[in-house]
Amino acid sequence: MTKVIKDIEIKNKRVIIRCDFNVPIENGKIVDDTRIIASLKTIKYALKNNCKIILLSHLGRIKEKKDLEKNTLAPVAKRLSELLQQEVKFVNKTRGKELEKVVEKMQPKEIILIQNTRYEDLEGKKESSNDKDLAAYWASLGEIFINDAFGTCHRKHASNVGIAANIPSALGFLVEKEVKALEELKCPSKPFILILGGKKVADKIGVIENLITKVDYLLIGGGMAFTFLKAEGYPVGNSIIDSESLEFCKQILEKYEDKIILPLDIKVNNEYANEGSIAIRDITEIKENEIGLDIGPKTVKVFKSYLKKGKTILWNGPLGVYEFSNFKIATDEILNYLVENNIKTILGGGDIVAASGDLKDKIYHVSTGGGATLEYLEGKPLPGIEIME
Ligand code: 3PG
Repeated sequence: MTKVIKDIEIKNKRVIIRCDFNVPIENGKIVDDTRIIASLKTIKYALKNNCKIILLSHLGRIKEKKDLEKNTLAPVAKRLSELLQQEVKFVNKTRGKELEKVVEKMQPKEIILIQNTRYEDLEGKKESSNDKDLAAYWASLGEIFINDAFGTCHRKHASNVGIAANIPSALGFLVEKEVKALEELKCPSKPFILILGGKKVADKIGVIENLITKVDYLLIGGGMAFTFLKAEGYPVGNSIIDSESLEFCKQILEKYEDKIILPLDIKVNNEYANEGSIAIRDITEIKENEIGLDIGPKTVKVFKSYLKKGKTILWNGPLGVYEFSNFKIATDEILNYLVENNIKTILGGGDIVAASGDLKDKIYHVSTGGGATLEYLEGKPLPGIEIME
């Protein structure tokens, strides 16, 4: 049995909570605080239990000195303070006397956020290599460890797996909720439909191999559709192709031709841009100089006809280049269709979650994981969760 937060006594304890505050920040401003909001339930539960709360998270990747400043967690402490309406003290250290003093003086219900755990990667990759001493040091700051960072559960780092090996530990409410929703996919209400988009087939091969026998239909859009279309012999112009995955596409199409639904038409442009010579082409008619940047209206109609029957939908990857307003139309239309028709949908993976914007709250489950969700869907064990078993 995997231990969850309610299985252990946290009352009046010093609790370390590992969150995933790896959020997009531009010019010091948080662009999307979904992950911060998702962490509040566990933090509030610890507050209710009169805990002293020490928050840990990574942000971005730290390879050289110049990565430090842009990946400071200071803006996250500020946003958390606003959301919780109480001060979340930011400690600009990952270890040392200053941090220890702050921890020592903490009062019940006080919250601190320590600096980005990956600052410890600058010399010797201590966080990412799950350095034993670092993990034991962080663990020594608290009495209980809660892992609520679903987005990092596929990593075996000092701040998740490492600390858990040292003190009594459990999963937080967010990880519990994520796992529960994704577990449902093991025995989904049928028809079960998988929508895949995004650029590269190679990133999705594991998911396709793991789920193709379980789904009733696999709808393919996004840049990856062009490798499938090319494998079927269609002209794809200058559209993105993942040549190394062509053979995989041929084989999977041959084996599951009744399940795999490819686009019938494509919205093309003469360059990779929002503006230009935009046209809708049947898949037999894409010209040499054209780039497919979205699926076309006929395809949207066909996809809807499948989704209409769907009882469980899992969606990873946008159907077009959603950063360009002219090429996010199909993704938006399908998202709206699923919401309007109240079709049980799980969105997994960073890009489709970002594309879902304000519709997020109306969707059955929106996963906060990127790589973690994909690895879960590939059927791989997640070390951050396994350690709690
Ligand atoms: C994510 O954004 O997927 C998680 O925060 C993990 O980040 P990472 O890929 O840098 O480990």
